[in-house]
Amino acid sequence: MIDYKSEINRLKRELDVTVVAHFYQRDEVFEMADITGDSLELARKCKADSNPWVVFCGVAFMGQSVKVIAPEKRVLMPKVACCSMARMIDASYFDDTVNYMVENGIPKEDILPITYINSDATVKAKVGEMGGLVCTSSNAFKIIEKGLESCKKILFVPDRCLGQNFAISMGLKYCVIGEGECDPKEADIICFNGFCAVHQLFTLEDIEFYRNKYPDIKIAVHPECDPKIVEASDFSGSTSQLIEYISNLDPEDKVAVGTEYNLVNRMRKANTYVLSSTKPECPTMNETTLEDLYLTLKSIEDNRPINEIEVDEHTVKYANLALERMLAVK
Ligand code: 13P
Ligand code: SF4
Repeated sequence: MIDYKSEINRLKRELDVTVVAHFYQRDEVFEMADITGDSLELARKCKADSNPWVVFCGVAFMGQSVKVIAPEKRVLMPKVACCSMARMIDASYFDDTVNYMVENGIPKEDILPITYINSDATVKAKVGEMGGLVCTSSNAFKIIEKGLESCKKILFVPDRCLGQNFAISMGLKYCVIGEGECDPKEADIICFNGFCAVHQLFTLEDIEFYRNKYPDIKIAVHPECDPKIVEASDFSGSTSQLIEYISNLDPEDKVAVGTEYNLVNRMRKANTYVLSSTKPECPTMNETTLEDLYLTLKSIEDNRPINEIEVDEHTVKYANLALERMLAVK
């Protein structure tokens, strides 16, 4: 029987490899990571890291992003698991969406696309080619502000909730394609109709339940939640911002948190609750096991790397433009 933890630690000592994990990974995988963080921090830290090998425990767009911003690195993923939201748009849907805007009176040169980092590298490349940028949940406000400087219409893909939530907080007019009347000429931000199924689990009834039970409770959610949930909450932010918010509360403050289960459970103190009666697990983030991590590291030692992330040259070139434009915004 292999002792995965000690074998992983041995391989990490012996190989020039950095193990990276997002907060939504299972605890036993998360604990083995050298680099952790929200999507923006992971991208920045991986770019700055000097090891030639990266083993990324997360979902596919995260490993791809490292390959795009640091193409010289060899990036392996213990499971090439897909974010279901990222799968809601591909390069041809992106083109269809741009065509929809053109048919509705907005010339292509007047569109500035912004893609949430939760998207495939080919979508990021389309965005990069059109002069657009990537954003994450922690910098969306600044990135949209930057986008507005162009005086163009912002096309926001794929997460309608993130687009709506930041449009509301910035006092901008928005519409969602396919939802009600969406006249791109009347809106500042036109949102693609994608969403995260995990973050759609949180309901107003959940918030009401906790507020009735503990009248002073704080509600903290991720901006992938529906705007009506964000509006009814006390705080909304990226995974790192949520962790910081909760850590800064007084020990006696109660807080119910609307994001993925592994993160909330890891933070769970006496006064921290999961804001849902259904366990909000991201199924694809949960696919990576300690055995997968061990086998991936072992494949480097055996000189037979598995699950390597490959991105073609054209995609790297243009997706990199969109990611670098984001990283340049302070
Ligand atoms: P963060 O960038 O906040 O870590 O979010 C990533 C994600 O996929 C949330 O569902
Ligand atoms: Fe994608 Fe949602 Fe999972 Fe985040 S929680 S990785 S947005 S499916």
